This record gives sequence, C-alpha cells and structure tokens, in this order.
Amino acid sequence: MFRDQRLGEISEDVLDYLSSRAADARIFEADLLVDRAHLIMLREQGHVSGEVSSRIIAALDDLTDADLGAGEDVHEAIEAFVLSRAGPEGGRMHTGRSRNDEVATCIRLAMRSEMLFLMDEQLSLVQTLVTLAEKHTDTVIPGFTHTQHAQPTTLAHHLLAHADAVLRDFSRTEDAYRRVNLSPLGAAAFASTGFVIDRHRTCELLGFDGLVENSMDAVSTRDFILEVLADLSICMVNLSRLAEELIMWSTSEFGYVELDNLFASTSSIMPQKKNPDTAELARGKAGSVVGSLVSALTICKGLPLSYNRDLQEVTPHLWRGLDWGRSTLRILNGCMASLKFNLERMQDSSGAGFSTATEVADSLVRITGMPFRTAHRIVGRIAASGGRPSMAELDEIALEIAGFKASERGFSAEMLEKALDPKSNVALRANIGGPAPAEGRRMVAERFKQISEGKERAAKRREKAESALADLRAMG
Ligand code: ARG
Repeated sequence: MFRDQRLGEISEDVLDYLSSRAADARIFEADLLVDRAHLIMLREQGHVSGEVSSRIIAALDDLTDADLGAGEDVHEAIEAFVLSRAGPEGGRMHTGRSRNDEVATCIRLAMRSEMLFLMDEQLSLVQTLVTLAEKHTDTVIPGFTHTQHAQPTTLAHHLLAHADAVLRDFSRTEDAYRRVNLSPLGAAAFASTGFVIDRHRTCELLGFDGLVENSMDAVSTRDFILEVLADLSICMVNLSRLAEELIMWSTSEFGYVELDNLFASTSSIMPQKKNPDTAELARGKAGSVVGSLVSALTICKGLPLSYNRDLQEVTPHLWRGLDWGRSTLRILNGCMASLKFNLERMQDSSGAGFSTATEVADSLVRITGMPFRTAHRIVGRIAASGGRPSMAELDEIALEIAGFKASERGFSAEMLEKALDPKSNVALRANIGGPAPAEGRRMVAERFKQISEGKERAAKRREKAESALADLRAMG
C-alpha cells in the first residue's frame, strides 16, 4: 500500500520475504493501543479534529485480526483497514510518527505484559521449592561435588539453592522491566518530527514509566530485547541444572526421586520405561533460548544507526525466548510440586563414599589441636583403606602421621562416632547459609518474605500498566 504510486507492484515472493506478519500477531493488540494513544495525543495537540479522531477510533474499535487484509506488516494492514472505514481522513493517524517508533513501542508494550507473566512463573517456582524445603530442613541427604559424594547436607539446603537461583532470575527480570517499560513513541523515523507533539502524554496514556529520550536511539536500539533474552538464557541455564538433577536422580542408579506420571513418557518399544522427557526438554530448550540470544546479538552486531530492516528479524527470537522461558518454568514447577522423593534412600546414602571424612578431620583439629593439613592427611589415609575407621585404626594412623595418638589428646570413640554421623555433620554446619536445620528454617522464612515482597511489587506494576490501558480503551 505504501508503495503503489512510486515503486509499483511487488511480487508475492518478495512480499513474503519482507513480511513480518506471522510474528506481528504478537503485537496486534499493542498496535491498536499505540494507534489510539497517538491519535488522542494528536487530537489534544490540535493536529486531528474530534470528528476525524472519532471516526478512526470507531474503525480501530471494530477491528479484529480476522479483518486484517494483506500488507507487509501489521502496521500497514491496520492503517489500510482504517482508511477503508474512515476514508482518506483516516490517513491523519500517521501524522508525526513512523513505523519505526511504532514497532519499537508495540514490542515494548507487548513484552511488558509477557514479562509480568514470566515474573509470576518465576515466583511460583520459587514458592514451590521453598514450600518443599520447609518440609525437609531435617532430611539429611548426600551432597555432591564433581558428581561424587562429598558431604552430607539437607534436602532443604539443596532445594533452597535452586530457589535462590530462580529468585535471582526473578530479580533480573524486574531489573530489565525498568528499561523495557519506556516509550520510544514520537521518535518518528529517527529524527523526531516538526509537528508539535507531546511524547509525555503518549507515554502516560500507554502506562510507560518514562521515555527512550533520544529519537535516534529510540528507534535504533533493541538492547532491551537482548537484555531480556540474556536474562532468559541465564534463567534457562539455571532451570536446566534443576532439570538435569531430576533426570539423574530418577535413574535407578540414584533412585532418589520419581517424577509423577503426568510429567513422564514411556518408550515405544520398551514397555517398562518411564522416561523424564519433560525435564529433558527443559534441558534442551535451554539450548534453544541461548540460541535465540546468540541470533539476536548477531543480528544487531555492527548495525549502523538508525533503523534497519534487519531489526525485524530480532523480534521473533524474543517471543520464542519468552514462550519457552514461561513454559519451562511452569512445567518444572509441576514436576517439583508432584515429585516423589525416596527419602529413605537419600538418607541411607548420605554417609556413602565416606562423605563424613571432612568432619572427622575437622573434629581432629578441634579436639587435638593438630593443624588441618595433618588431619587431612590422616583421614585421607583412612579413606584410602576403605573409610569408617575404628578408634584403634585412627590412633595408629595419627601416631604415624602426627606423632601422637588421637585418644591421647582427648579424642574419644564417641567423638569419632559423632563425626561419622551424617546427621550431626549437618547440625554442626550452622554458620549463616549452612545446612543446619535451624539455619534452613531461617532461610525458608526469609525466602517466603522475599516471595511476598516480590509478588507485591509485581502486582503494583501490573496494576499501573493495566489501569493505564483500561483508561485508554475507555477514551473515545
Ligand atoms: N515490521 C517492521 C519491523 O518489525 C516494522 C517497521 C518497518 N519500518 C520500515 N521502515 N520498513 O521492524
């Protein structure tokens, strides 16, 4: 439509190649709102009469995506519809703006609401993890480094570690939201416009928190998309680690957990199989989101200012990233909420692989006063000869390495027994952030508080955005 007088007809093939219509479905509603806000501002500034503005608004109110005709993008198709309803006067809607500021505004508006949903999903998963942790502050399980039994910990400590990672993901989304929820509208093609417009007014009508001020920056930048994709990638990488543990822990070798049937699949050939496919796809989709980030970064890299059509190619990656982020959070939340833990097995293997060795060494230091490195050597020797020593064995090795028997310096058989007990190992680790049950309970309470504060902030943001848009929709 914008080309017919000068450039003439275009082939279907080229039109198809240029078109962003498929991805534009995501900004259809946003575009109607942006049109409306811009038009109201134009009327208030005296660029469009009340009568013409009402005709255009009536056309916008009538429009559903089913009515949209052809066009390179949604902006063109909506304008064509307005012209068909309101006549040539409808063309005043595009006074003092360009598709360049229009599309940037639409993307920010649409992604803002998707980010609010993303934040909800992030907090819901945190809530599930912390609720589980609350039940398991005393449940002793094995802890790993290098996927080898390392030291005993609690299930709460482990779950809270994942919860804290997702809480940081939430806080990154919040942080990015402040930079996303800004208005580029009124930047026009890039050089602003000679019409006297009121950018603050459209900003306010659309519920943005402020302007992307420089009109050249406003249409050129997609760093707000890059930032959200980077945050989503980090979130997905965090989720993929949770997913990986679900996969590993549900093998018969570990046997620590069992996914609910709802989140598992079977094999087409092996009737006995129960596969953790949802967790595997979570792990896989993390790769796809990182791919979207890398695509978007690569498209933006080296682009000269200001608008270039390459930017159109960035947007679908954003929608994909947001969709996969949200669905992965939701699915993993379901997996965790319905997960069966084999607590007996976890508890039983919490001392496996001589995982209490560190505490035996620590106790030797605390009680006999020997340097830690000497104790490390003594216990290392015990580990080499199979772990779990008797008092006599310990004394013999201590005598050889430290030059005295442990029992000569007050180290009793009961002390050894205690050091070898996973439960007392955990109880001793009561420093801030450690696995001791009381510390677990403190962290759980603190996290619940953070969740409710986060929910409150998210609700305020949603309320501001939604009430602005409700007011805008009500304006004729
Ligand atoms: N579909 C375009 C995009 O997503 C809209 C802006 C088009 N602007 C232009 N000058 N051709 O970027």
